[in-house]
Amino acid sequence: MAGTRSLHNLALIGFMGTGKSCIGRVVADALRFTFLDTDRVIEARAGKSITEIFEQEGEAVFRDWEGRIVEELTRRTKTVIATGGGLPVNEANLASLKSHALVVCLWASPETILERVRDHTHRPLLKEPDPLAKIRQLLEVRAPFYRQADVLVSTELRSLREVAAQIVHQFHLAQSGQKSDLKRDT
Ligand code: S3P
Repeated sequence: MAGTRSLHNLALIGFMGTGKSCIGRVVADALRFTFLDTDRVIEARAGKSITEIFEQEGEAVFRDWEGRIVEELTRRTKTVIATGGGLPVNEANLASLKSHALVVCLWASPETILERVRDHTHRPLLKEPDPLAKIRQLLEVRAPFYRQADVLVSTELRSLREVAAQIVHQFHLAQSGQKSDLKRDT
């Protein structure tokens, strides 16, 4: 449980379009932590975009990259980590994050997610004729993994700053060992 773990870092998991990167930056500023986005680290290391990795090498190669980056994160402290939406579907990745970070899942409905990602072209998994069906299908598979987060935070009907403040509050509670105060679906 969060209260008995070393919480050096804070990890944000959740589906594409739930705001992990935007909210993560605000949380990092508030905590005076470094911000790190696993997708950006992979792009820098691979020397190509996520889309290019998917197109040229396939999803499996991208997932290998994720595993390697997750492994390296165990050595970090005072870092807010925004993860790619599929990263926690690998149990080992989730367990590794939990060994050093409070894991917070950002949540949104399929319709809200579609609204947020509609104009984005950099998500290979959503380049589909019916993206809403694809979002629903992926969410169904991923929900059991997302639910293993220490804290679930809805991003519906809330500003980015409200969500960030909620996460900072939860992190302070968890760090002070008040795990009974960790809230689900806050
Ligand atoms: C993915 C989500 C993306 C990125 C890649 C795969 C996924 O990250 O890692 O396109 O499997 O859900 P975001 O969640 O930051 O969009």
